[in-house]
Amino acid sequence: MRRTIDWGEDAIVIIDQTALPADFRLLELRTVGELVDAVKRLAVRGAPALGAAGALGVALAARLGGDVRADAELIAHARPTAVNLEWGVERALRKLDQGPDAVLAEALALLTEDEELNKTASGHAAGIVRELCPGRPLRLLSHCNAGQLATVGWGSALGVVWHLHERGLVKEVLVDETRPLLQGARLTAWELAQANVPYRVQPDGAAAAAMARGMVDCVLVGADRIAANGDVANKIGTYGLAIAAKHHGVPFVVVAPSSTVDMTLASGAGIAIEERDARELTEHAGVPLTPPDARVFNPAFDVTPHDLITAVVTEHGRFAP
Ligand code: MRU
Repeated sequence: MRRTIDWGEDAIVIIDQTALPADFRLLELRTVGELVDAVKRLAVRGAPALGAAGALGVALAARLGGDVRADAELIAHARPTAVNLEWGVERALRKLDQGPDAVLAEALALLTEDEELNKTASGHAAGIVRELCPGRPLRLLSHCNAGQLATVGWGSALGVVWHLHERGLVKEVLVDETRPLLQGARLTAWELAQANVPYRVQPDGAAAAAMARGMVDCVLVGADRIAANGDVANKIGTYGLAIAAKHHGVPFVVVAPSSTVDMTLASGAGIAIEERDARELTEHAGVPLTPPDARVFNPAFDVTPHDLITAVVTEHGRFAP
């Protein structure tokens, strides 16, 4: 598959994740405003892909001229939770005094690294999962989308599935639909179907019941920000999954590139959690789902405390909090 996000001719080119799975289409982003809008709408999403968006955004701004540092601020704060976005922006900004070509070269280097590091991190995690669950093809549970679409290529948590599937070690992936924007049902299921990996989509609320029935050998998720003590911010619902996994003795493994680790935060308590538009819950395709005056709590992420996590795995292996 082509890269989720790349540089085209004078534009950032992304796979439009709002259109999948019905439509595979590309979007060309030619201005900083278009990029910021695409990030906010989740046309490009997932922490590592946002890191690439941050770096390419600065490269775009540098080519267009104007106030590049002001543009960089806008890009870095388009969404607050995934640390990779500001990390990508800052990395590209460090080349600004060498000119637009140097900034673009740095952004493209980051893209290449992202693919390699996610492949390495998920390879380590595949080994750890085999140690935790020896001896049989695995029933895995996935939340949100931590696949190719959430990265430049390959994926983090879903990258583990690709490694295990290559060796015939995946029996089934249970895919949490991931309310309210359905990254699991729309994106993870699409990726698994493309790769011919057996999967079933389930409502998020079925995850604990699946564990109680002994249908899950291991939970695999990605991360948006990992604090120094190993607390992990990830898609809303991850915390509940971790509690259920602990209760049922199911290993809970987090996979992410080290660019997702934020050593400036001692614990997850300091992680900014994005709250999204109420309409994601109150309506679907323009049809009301709630009474008109319903008030809404719509956090996009939650924080899973480190003591509920079996292993956090990066390209360096097990992360030691
Ligand atoms: O709101 P999203 O779709 O950007 O949220 C994405 C997630 O929560 C992913 O699990 C996370 O970014 C890790 S992706 C490798």
